[in-house]
Amino acid sequence: MPTLATLNHLDRAAFTGALGHLFEHSPWVADETWPQRPFRDAAHLHAALCATMRAAAPARQLVLIRAHPDLAGRLARQNALTAESTREQASAGLNRLTDDELAEFQRLNTAYLARFGFPFIICARLNAKSAILAAMQTRLPNTAELEFSTALGEIEKIAQIRLNDLLEKTT
Ligand code: GUN
Repeated sequence: MPTLATLNHLDRAAFTGALGHLFEHSPWVADETWPQRPFRDAAHLHAALCATMRAAAPARQLVLIRAHPDLAGRLARQNALTAESTREQASAGLNRLTDDELAEFQRLNTAYLARFGFPFIICARLNAKSAILAAMQTRLPNTAELEFSTALGEIEKIAQIRLNDLLEKTT
């Protein structure tokens, strides 16, 4: 497990290798944050990573949002998730759904994707299955602008927890 001091001393490729997974399938966030080192503490590093994500063009942010797997989706059932995503979905209990619950997730995932053109994002490590289902229903009538910005906010929470894991901190 690296310390922040170790991370601060890594060259660009190694830094991106160590932090690239914090944003799903999007190592460019770590790569483009590297020039801002050294980071004072974990909060500073997280804020810098999030600022890189927020400064990106909306089209690039959309690709990042779309890089996330559906919750209880096809990739999860095929065991084709990243290690982090597998852990996140399991922590919300999404790997232990009844057939009815699975059908409800599929219905809501499909409706959400059809309405917004990107998958429903919520930080699965901070929400249990029932809260996720409730949020899917509550957020479905929202505007695309609100859901886009909510997705980026949830991605920041996901990255925070992944960073805490990397630095062996508790949340
Ligand atoms: N899709 C929606 N929420 C999440 C999450 O917390 N983690 C991952 N990997 N994908 C998601």
